Amino acid sequence: MTSFSIEAPAKVNLTLHVVGRRDDGYHLLDSLVAFAGVGDTLEFRPADTLRLEVTGPTAGQIPAEGENIVLKAARLLAGAAGVTRGAAITLTKRLPVAAGIGGGSADAAAALKGLMRLWDVVLPAGTLAKVALSIGADVPVCLAGTPTRMMGVGEMLEPAPALPPAWLLLVNPMVPLHTPPVFKARTGPFSAADPLTDSPRDAKALAAALAARRNDLTPPAITIEPVVGEVLAAIAATPDCLLPRMSGSGATCFGLYAEESQARAAAARLAAAHPAWWIAPARLLS
Ligand code: C5P
Repeated sequence: MTSFSIEAPAKVNLTLHVVGRRDDGYHLLDSLVAFAGVGDTLEFRPADTLRLEVTGPTAGQIPAEGENIVLKAARLLAGAAGVTRGAAITLTKRLPVAAGIGGGSADAAAALKGLMRLWDVVLPAGTLAKVALSIGADVPVCLAGTPTRMMGVGEMLEPAPALPPAWLLLVNPMVPLHTPPVFKARTGPFSAADPLTDSPRDAKALAAALAARRNDLTPPAITIEPVVGEVLAAIAATPDCLLPRMSGSGATCFGLYAEESQARAAAARLAAAHPAWWIAPARLLS
């Protein structure tokens, strides 16, 4: 087999309601998760041992200590499937790390998909789901890769209503924001679950449906990193922005736009004002 590539698109929490907490400290969520047309790429080649090379604009942000999530996914899959072969994986990293858009989770999900193809193994759906969840709470939804209502701690997935054509502008101030402290800093009563029940007919209707809901992790993220508030305000001030919102536990925020030209114009404006920020216009994948 020759080499092949698999895309690892950014995950975007269009809504994120924290609806409870388990005894082990993990939080129960009700989140509308979608994907953006920007992400990392993983290339797979047959090899006797397991090897990972990381390149790309944000490769330097990957922590040197600890095992890379791609290798962790590979080892867990090999163990679950009884595979002893290796693989040479090249990860081209474009997404910021520890950023709330599932960069690591998307890479892990793409690694599982790519290695099942390379090794020609099919895991029973339940086993694959368990492997995915043991890597990280967002890995199962990244395996799904389509708009999904995510519940529980990430293990309960339901297809979401179809989303209309729309564009996103992803903006990260290039400060890493680690997930556990953000969940810990959340205070007050839990939210009610409030899933989207109908398909919004256009981007404006999607923005209205999202505006009636929220990301409950925004206040604690702003407390820990006030720049998140600046990012949201800067996005909200761009012409034609239908909705500004933070994704996941931050610090990446997104603006929602009806047209590609509007998202690109907003990107140019923000890039000029904030040259240090990571700014990526991308289609909302349906
Ligand atoms: O599983 P993952 O690595 O994505 O989660 C990182 C941390 O975020 C967890 O250890 C936990 O502190 C917090 N978390 C949570 N509830 C979730 C997901 C994550 O409290 N549903």
